[in-house]
Amino acid sequence: MKSFIVSIILICFSFGYAQKSKLTPEHYQNIRKSFRDKMPDNSVAVLFSAPIRNRANDVDYVYHQDPHFFYLTGWHQPHSVILIYKNPQRDRQGSYFEKIYVPERDNYMEMWNGKRYSLEHVKQLGFDRVAERKAFKADIQYLDSFDDVLMLEFKNDIRNQKMYVFKNGKRYKVDDPNDLFDLKAAFRDAINLPVDFSPLLQLAYQTILSSDENNLDQTVEKLYNIVQQDSSLIENEIIKGFVKNPLQKHYNEIQRKTALELRNYNFDIETIPSIMADMREIKTNDEIELLKKAVAISVVGQIEVMKAMHPKMSEREIQGIHEFVYRKYGAADEGYPSIVGAGENGCVLHYIENDKKELDNQLVLMDLGAEFYGYTADVTRTVPANGVFSPEQKALYKIVYASQEAAINGAKVGNSFRSLFQLSYDIIAEGLLGLGIISEYSEAKKYYPHGLSHHIGLDVHDPGNYGYLESNMIITVEPGIYIPKNSPCDPRWWNIGIRIEDDILITEDGPVNLSAGAPRDWEGIEAMMRKESVLKDFILPDMMTLIQ
Ligand code: GLY
Ligand code: MN
Ligand code: MN
Repeated sequence: MKSFIVSIILICFSFGYAQKSKLTPEHYQNIRKSFRDKMPDNSVAVLFSAPIRNRANDVDYVYHQDPHFFYLTGWHQPHSVILIYKNPQRDRQGSYFEKIYVPERDNYMEMWNGKRYSLEHVKQLGFDRVAERKAFKADIQYLDSFDDVLMLEFKNDIRNQKMYVFKNGKRYKVDDPNDLFDLKAAFRDAINLPVDFSPLLQLAYQTILSSDENNLDQTVEKLYNIVQQDSSLIENEIIKGFVKNPLQKHYNEIQRKTALELRNYNFDIETIPSIMADMREIKTNDEIELLKKAVAISVVGQIEVMKAMHPKMSEREIQGIHEFVYRKYGAADEGYPSIVGAGENGCVLHYIENDKKELDNQLVLMDLGAEFYGYTADVTRTVPANGVFSPEQKALYKIVYASQEAAINGAKVGNSFRSLFQLSYDIIAEGLLGLGIISEYSEAKKYYPHGLSHHIGLDVHDPGNYGYLESNMIITVEPGIYIPKNSPCDPRWWNIGIRIEDDILITEDGPVNLSAGAPRDWEGIEAMMRKESVLKDFILPDMMTLIQ
């Protein structure tokens, strides 16, 4: 018994892997082909899997794959990396455009943490070349022969991990020489990435080098924007020289100094995010199918909670019902921490404590999304815990609803994100002015302090360019009004937080509300809350009877 306990303590837990992809190898081959088409000539892109993150002591968080990596590969396991080449590479088998490196089979680790896959199996996922991760270090010795090595910014949040080796029947714990930590260290060496590399500083240098001598004000403005993100950069001599003294006579000298600072680098951290924004904001038909399912599951969660809710219910129980519904449909996770906030808690935009016990007659803001095979919904409903809106709750709810209606109807191809926000803001401002809650149009931002829309996909806030709407985007439309206690208005409005959030597919024929199945207007919500819940007989023993 003792040795069993010891062996449990010795092993670092790693709780399974993210849900496998449901999309076909052909889907990912097409995605990688489109990605390659956008890469600059003679470049290579290097993308790593996400690190395993430690929760505490020897327990890790459930693994979540890096969304860019998953988008390009569908590969769900850690300690992996892919190289994608613009131009064909050659080996003995012929030419290839990509090579993925994955962990080797290991019976012992698989006994603890689950299946790893043979190279033949991974090859069937549609990659030109597949190799064990230990081959990566040798393959990246020639990166300086590429004009550009495209990469994502390093976050420095990886732990060096251990592995087990067996010798003469004994088990030894040793450094894993090819875990993500070591793969990234080798890559860092191969591209001469300084330990203290600052992407913002790099961006500042690139901005200076590409500046137009006849329009220096524009460059100064860009540099100010960069410095705003990290004020320590103002101490940098080159930036200081340019910003403080953008005179013609210093220009050439500053350019020379800047070029010297950048001379050894052929890596690039701008291009992959930019390609990804272009690609990921437009969903493929396969992605749309998965997102429709994620949204449909989340809608059922909202409906079942509306039916089950009563004033003695806790925020935690409401969260549990939503998440239970997600699991019933096979969703492995939530796309972000569930937000269930009653009364004043609804005024905290990303409230996740969810620990209020009794909700009485307060409004409950429920912002949750099922993650289905990697793709996440993002749906919010705000409902009165006792099933009936009070006059104040209803007055504010109607404003948010009208604002959302206008923005959803405006979600048409060619309209801008900015114009939709403006539509929603105008209606909220007019409504708040009408109720005497504000006296100036601009004061509305105090009670509507966030944006209106974002893309959803593999990330709840999916990448995109956020310019104009195009077919096959899926965006949220989510206006809100939040009036915390002590706001400068009549106290009868205090502690009301309302957000209504739907997931909208943009099509040539107009917006399609994928989450329309969950009642959204106040009458529909009250009617749904009068319905009987399937959970009405799901009564568990009182806690006090469980303990001696
Ligand atoms: N659930 C986070 C958001 O609505 O953006
Ligand atoms: Mn959202
Ligand atoms: Mn949300």
